[in-house]
Formats: sequence, structure tokens, C-alpha cells
Amino acid sequence: MMWPFIFSCLIACTGKLVSTSCSLELSPPRVVVRFGDSFSANCTSSSDQTEGIGWESPYGGVDLTQGVSSLLFKIDSVPDWEMWSMCYMNYRDGDQCVKLLPVTVYKMPDSVSLKNLRTVEEGQQFAIQCDVVNVAPARNLSVLWHKGNKILSSQTFDESSPSPVSKSSVLTLTAHRGDDGAEIWCEAKLNLWPQEQGPPPVRSEAHTLTVLYPPTFTNDPNENLEMTVGSKISLNCTARGNPVPSYHWQFPNFTQVWYRSHDVNHPILTPSSEFPGVYTCTASNTQGTVTKYFIITEAPRDETIIAAIVRLLVAFGLLLFLACLVFTTHRGIFSCKKDDCLQGQPTSSVPV
Ligand SMILES: *[C@@H]1O[C@H](CO)[C@@H](O)[C@H](O)[C@H]1NC(C)=O
Ligand SMILES: *[C@@H]1O[C@H](CO)[C@@H](O)[C@H](O)[C@H]1NC(C)=O
Ligand SMILES: *[C@@H]1O[C@H](CO)[C@@H](O)[C@H](O)[C@H]1NC(C)=O
Ligand SMILES: *[C@@H]1O[C@H](CO)[C@@H](O)[C@H](O)[C@H]1NC(C)=O
Repeated sequence: MMWPFIFSCLIACTGKLVSTSCSLELSPPRVVVRFGDSFSANCTSSSDQTEGIGWESPYGGVDLTQGVSSLLFKIDSVPDWEMWSMCYMNYRDGDQCVKLLPVTVYKMPDSVSLKNLRTVEEGQQFAIQCDVVNVAPARNLSVLWHKGNKILSSQTFDESSPSPVSKSSVLTLTAHRGDDGAEIWCEAKLNLWPQEQGPPPVRSEAHTLTVLYPPTFTNDPNENLEMTVGSKISLNCTARGNPVPSYHWQFPNFTQVWYRSHDVNHPILTPSSEFPGVYTCTASNTQGTVTKYFIITEAPRDETIIAAIVRLLVAFGLLLFLACLVFTTHRGIFSCKKDDCLQGQPTSSVPV
């Protein structure tokens, strides 16, 4: 470190520490410069009792210059990670005044990259690493973790070395299904003064999170449906999951045709003809299986062909019975036995 040297020099060379009454002004008061770049600073004195102004630096100073109120110091290419310089002024009475110019030398990282990227299961804890290679000064580095448009966390580092070092930040997360498909990345930023003149942050590539989770129905878990004549029923078994679920249907037994084609791998079933009963759909992927029941009932006013035929037969029988009653009454017989009824048929009856 140069600081002990500077301060011992200040005392040895001047016999005085920097005093508050020192009338030197530096412009800018401190310098942030990229390694290898140039910088300059202007030292101005507001006193007229001076012998002259000079600059001291391990990389070429400026000799004591008389009869000036300001003196420029310039470095064409910053050669070291630890830079300093100071402006001094000699008073006529032999006193000396010194102002230090703090110089921060920085270097943006060679690379910022993510490591430990993998597919995770819902509920699992996992860690992603961000590697920042060759950055200086690391004590001014912060690594920010982004997920989508949110900042998850930020990390800083305790590092005294002014020369480039590599740093890693590890982010630990628990996998949620909502994070499936979300983008995550890290960003290396040097917090240097002044902020707005500092270098822009460096981002890693974005990683798209893959979270595996079991299927979940997007609609009601079970559905009751009523059949109505002439309208198509659509059974919606859509489930969300990763990997994309596959579907398996089971139908009531008497619908033999569909029963054989129960391996239709589709979330929507539109039966071509409708039978009441329980239709079962299972959605499954590597993470699990869920089952949904569709209970299909007949609408009360609904009429099947069989019911219509039965009703027709009953009506016909009733008509026959009434006709028989009419014939037997005309013949004056009040009991209607089977034989009487046969005798009462139009072909064998006596016309009135
Ligand atoms: C240094 O500062 C003085 C006083 O502000 C100014 O007059 C002078 O032009 C400056 N020199 C340079 C090289 O900027
Ligand atoms: C670098 O960080 C240190 C402490 O974190 C801070 O005091 C200093 O001002 C920073 N340097 C610059 C140039 O901003
Ligand atoms: C099935 O349900 C899903 C989820 O509610 C919906 O997005 C989709 O449009 C439905 N499909 C049909 C054919 O109704
Ligand atoms: C439907 O078919 C399955 C398998 O063939 C059989 O186990 C079950 O008893 C049948 N159910 C009815 C109501 O016939």
C-alpha cells in the first residue's frame, strides 16, 4: 500500500499534516479512471503568498512552478492499479500545503457468466452461481440477481486488493411452478464515484428456468353435465404441467366403440353420440397423475326411443281394453272375460 508512504512523506517532507487552512483546490477532487486510460487534474491556489505549486506522483510529477495560481497534472496511460498523486504549494514563510488526489483505477470484468444451470422439480432447493472474472477494484463490485423485471438480491465483497480478482455469487432459490419459463441473470456493477460517470454494468446471459411440476386442472376438478337432445357435449380436461401432460380417457361400458379408443391423447373430448355415465380423464406427466370425473346425466324432459315405444304400447293396450269394454256393454254383459272379449270382436258380433 502507498498510503503509509504518502503520510510518512507528508510528515517527513513538510513537517505538517494537511491542514484545513490549506488553500489548494483540486478539480476534479478525485479521479476514477480505467486502467490504461488518461486523466488530468487541475490544482488551483487562492493564496498570493506562494513560492510556487507542484505535483508529486510516482509516475511523473510536475516540478515546482513559480508565479502561477494553477497547475495541471496529466497521465497519458494509467500504468498501475494503485495510483495516487498530490499537489503541493510552498508558502513564502517556509510552510507547505499539500492536497491529495485520490485515484481509483478500475477494470470491468472479462466475463460474467452463470454456472450450475439445470432443470429443477417443484419445491426443490437449487443454487445458481455467477462468476465474475478479473474485475477491479472488487471492493466496489456488486453482483445483482435479476428474475424477470425484479431484482432478487445483491451482493458486495470484502476485498482489499486494488488489482483484478475473480468473484462468485451464489443464489439459492426454491423452485415454484410460477417460475417455469422465467428468465434469470446476474449483473456485475462497479459502484464508483460519481455514479453516472461510472462504467455501465455487465450482464450475464439470461437463463430460462425450467421447473417440473405435476398436472393441475385449469377448470373445476370434477364436472356434472346434463345431456340435452341436439347439442354437443364437450368435456374439457385441460391440465397445466411440465412436462406437458398426456391424457387418458375411460368411458361407460356400453359405449363399446369409444371404449376401444380410450387412448386418445387429447384434453378435449367431444363424444359423437351421447350416453349418460361417468367419463374419467387422467392427465399425467413424469411428476404425477390427476384424475377428473365428468358425470353426465339425462335431462329430465329427455325421451329415449325405448321410452317412447313403451309409452306407445301402453297407449295401444289401453285403447284395446276400452274398445273391448264398449263392445261387451252393448251386448249387455257387464263382465269382461277373455272369451267374451274375443266374442265381442266386430267379425263375430251381431250388428245393432
Ligand atoms: C485550472 O483552473 C483554473 C482556475 O479555475 C483555470 O483558470 C484554468 O484554466 C484551469 N486549467 C486547465 C488546464 O483546465
Ligand atoms: C469504493 O468502495 C468503497 C467502500 O465500499 C468506498 O468507500 C469508495 O468510495 C468506493 N470508491 C469509489 C471510487 O467510489
Ligand atoms: C378448456 O379449458 C381451458 C382452460 O380453462 C381453456 O383455455 C380452453 O379454451 C378450453 N377448451 C375448450 C375447447 O373449451
Ligand atoms: C365395465 O367394464 C369393466 C372392465 O371390462 C368391468 O370390470 C366392469 O364391471 C364393467 N362395469 C359395468 C357396469 O358393466
